[in-house]
Amino acid sequence: MTDPTTHKPVLLLVDDQPSNIQVLHQIFKADHEVYMATSGEQALAFCASQLPDLILLDVVMPGLNGHQVCVKLKADARTRDIPVIFVTGHNNPEDESEGLRLGAVDFISKPVNAAIVRARVRVQLMLSRSLRQVQELNETLEERVAQRTTELRQAMQDLRQSQDSLADSEARATLSTLIASVSHELGTPLGNSRMVASTLAEQTKAMALALKAGQIKRSSLDHYVEQVSDGINLLESNLERSVELLGDFRQVAADQASEQRRLFKLDVVVGEILHTLSPSLKRQPHCIVVDIAPGIIMDSQPGALGRVLINLVNNAYLHAFEGRTDGVLTISGRADANQVTLVVADNGIGIAPELLDKVFDPFVSTKIGKGGTGLGMAIVQNLVTKSLGGRIEVQSAPGQGTRFELTLPTVFSG
Ligand SMILES: Nc1ncnc2c1ncn2[C@@H]1O[C@H](COP(=O)(O)OP(=O)(O)OP(=O)(O)O)[C@@H](O)[C@H]1O
Ligand SMILES: [Mg+2]
Repeated sequence: MTDPTTHKPVLLLVDDQPSNIQVLHQIFKADHEVYMATSGEQALAFCASQLPDLILLDVVMPGLNGHQVCVKLKADARTRDIPVIFVTGHNNPEDESEGLRLGAVDFISKPVNAAIVRARVRVQLMLSRSLRQVQELNETLEERVAQRTTELRQAMQDLRQSQDSLADSEARATLSTLIASVSHELGTPLGNSRMVASTLAEQTKAMALALKAGQIKRSSLDHYVEQVSDGINLLESNLERSVELLGDFRQVAADQASEQRRLFKLDVVVGEILHTLSPSLKRQPHCIVVDIAPGIIMDSQPGALGRVLINLVNNAYLHAFEGRTDGVLTISGRADANQVTLVVADNGIGIAPELLDKVFDPFVSTKIGKGGTGLGMAIVQNLVTKSLGGRIEVQSAPGQGTRFELTLPTVFSG
């Protein structure tokens, strides 16, 4: 079909009477490209080589009549959309309604009135042009939607990847925080041990001198033995504390570094995490109450669980207990059938309703510009769902504290 914006519309006039064609030709020749056919067969042959924009079709013709031509045109996908206007004998309502039933868009009666036939043809040409434009728009719309969908899918994938790499960098950050906090923690018992050792060394030196000089008294020997045994006790307890701390740290560090699934006891892992947590938490006037049923064994990723806990504990200390001295954070754990419910609840300031809905969204923070990135809870949710196969829910109201409930499968293969 021709482009209506740059070409004259192409009309095909079909009538077995050349005089009728002549009349129509006169009417349209000025502003249309007009082709003529004097039989149904000729009309179909024309359409096989070129598609007109509209056909004016006589009904009564020898050979293929107008109705038969119309049926053939409508049956062919190439020609189906060409508007057909029947030119019918005067006063023949059956012909007219039959024509419309067969798919014609309009009819006009002979003898034709120039103004009417022009108006009808113009309307049909406009209609079919608009229809074509709508169809084209639809096609490009589908294309555009498909393109946007692909772009969105890509964006989602990128986001997921960056979330994963965020979780990775979070694991590394947790590890370096732990290293810093454990070195700090080890400082006290190791420093104590060194002091005890050097005191003992001095006392022993003095004792050795006294022994050499033969001036040793029974009472000072007793005193020395007493001091040595106190010193040894102190050394033992301090070294034990260091070994314990190192043991917990080694396990937590291994879990953080490996991202591996293993069998673990829930109370033990929670204990290890809290034990290795930043000593700065312990310097605060708040307390953590742990109430985990003993004997809960999980087969999951303890490293991910550790990071979740660290984020929740840090949030409680940073946000919930801000400006308070009586913070209590309770971590409780229960198991039934094949799932574990872990609740981390604080008695702090609570979360405003408008923030509560978005608390797991990335970059949502009341501490932007003051050290918060708003990624903590997004990472927590990612870890809970992806690494631990569970879900997390939050309940909170201003002044009522905040309660996070984690539901985790006891066994999760990832
Ligand atoms: N236990 C809580 N009590 C009160 N408000 C909380 C608590 N936990 C989280 N919030 C609120 O939710 C916000 C989002 O927490 P999230 O851990 O995602 O970010 P953040 O702690 O601000 O920054 P970061 O990325 O360093 O963790 C916090 O800014 C805080 O307003
Ligand atoms: Mg946080």
